[in-house]
Amino acid sequence: MRLVVSTCLLGTACRYDGRAKRCDEVARLSRKVRDAGGTVVGVCPEVAGGLPVPRPCAELCGDEVVLANGHRVTEAFERGARLELDEALATHDLPLAVLKARSPSCGVGFVYDGTHTGTLARGNGVFARLLGERGVHMATEDSVRACTPSMEHPVALILGSGMGHLSGLVKPVRRIAYQDIAGFPADARPVEGHSFEATVGTIDGVPVVVYPGRVHLYQGYGALEVTSLVQHARCLGCRVVVFACATGAIPGVARKGLSVIADHINLTGANPLVGWNVTEDSAPLVSTEFVDMAQVYTPYLRGLVLGVARDMGIDVKEGVLAGVLGPSFETPAEVGALKALGVSHVGMSTVCEAIMAHALGMQVLGLTLATNYAGEPGVSHQTVLREAQLHAEEFEGLVRGVLALL
Ligand code: HPA
Repeated sequence: MRLVVSTCLLGTACRYDGRAKRCDEVARLSRKVRDAGGTVVGVCPEVAGGLPVPRPCAELCGDEVVLANGHRVTEAFERGARLELDEALATHDLPLAVLKARSPSCGVGFVYDGTHTGTLARGNGVFARLLGERGVHMATEDSVRACTPSMEHPVALILGSGMGHLSGLVKPVRRIAYQDIAGFPADARPVEGHSFEATVGTIDGVPVVVYPGRVHLYQGYGALEVTSLVQHARCLGCRVVVFACATGAIPGVARKGLSVIADHINLTGANPLVGWNVTEDSAPLVSTEFVDMAQVYTPYLRGLVLGVARDMGIDVKEGVLAGVLGPSFETPAEVGALKALGVSHVGMSTVCEAIMAHALGMQVLGLTLATNYAGEPGVSHQTVLREAQLHAEEFEGLVRGVLALL
C-alpha cells in the first residue's frame, strides 16, 4: 500500500508558523502501513516549492495563493505541488493521500478563503487539486480521526446474503437479538443466508458490532424498518459503518467479484428520510431530512480498501450501485437502461441504509460482491449464495485488512 501524507501531520516542523501539527491517528496509520510492508511518502509542497520555514501565512483565493498583505505566492505553491506530485505518483499505484486539512496546498474539501479571517471556502488546495485530477483518494486528518474505532465507537458491519460468516470472526462480548432492536420488524424471519442476532465484540482486537443479516424492502418492510439496524448502530456509538451486499454486475461495465461502492442511484422508490422528522424517538439524531448526498461513501475508507486489495493481489475496482426494489431480477431492457445510467452494479439492499447512515453523520464504506451478471438467465437466491461462498475468503481478508488499518 502506498500512502501519501503531509509531513506536518507526522510531526515535521514545516508549517508556516514553524511548527508541526502532529496527528496521532495519522502517525499510527503510517506506522501500520510501513509495518505491513507498504510505503509512506511524506510531502510538504510549500517546502518543496522553496518557501522558508517559518513564512508568512498564505491562503487560497480562487486560483491564487495570497498573503495577508495581498502579495501573491501562487507560483511557489504550484512549483512545489508539481514536484511533490512526481514523488507521490512515482509508481503506477494510485495512492491514498492523507493531507493537512484546510491548508492552501493540502486542504481537501475546504480551505481558508483568502480573507485571513479564519473563514473557510469550499475547494481543494493547489496540491490536492492535482491529486484529485489523477483520481487519488484524498482525506484529511479529520477523516482519519472520525474513522478511528474505540470501545465507545465500534465499527458496525451490516452484512448481506451469504456474507454473515464474518460474525464467526468476532470475539464476542455481547449478543443482541434483532427483536430487541427498536424499529426492527417484530415478525421478520431471516431469509436463507441471513441470521438475526448482532454480535458486539472485537475482530483482531478492533471493536465491532456485526449484524449478519437484514430485512429488505422487497419483503414488504418500510424504509425505516430496513434502516433500523443503522439507527441502532448509531445509538450504540458506531461512527463507521461497513455495508456488504450481493449484487449483479452490469455486463460490459463490471465483473463478478468484489467491488467498492463509490456512489449510488436510488431506484427503490423509497427513502428512509421520508417522514423522518415526525418520528419523535428519532428526532434528536437527525436535524433535517434535506440531507446533502454529495459524498455518501467516505473517500478515506474507499482508498484503504483499494490499497488493501492491491496488497492482497485481488482486482477490486470502484463502481456505482443502483438500488432497486426487487425481488425479481432485472430484464435485459432494465439492464440496458441501468448501463445507460452509468450503473456498474445492481442490488436490492444498502442504498436506503447508506442514506440513513449518511444522514446520521456516519462514515460509510460499501463493499459489494457481484455474484452474477445482471439479467443473466438462471439466477436465483441459491446461485447468489453459492457464489458468495466462493468469495468468502477474499471478502474476509479485505475486511480484516481494512479493520487492521483503522
Ligand atoms: N440483481 C439485483 N440484485 C442482486 C443481483 C442481481 O442480479 N444479484 C444479487 N443481488
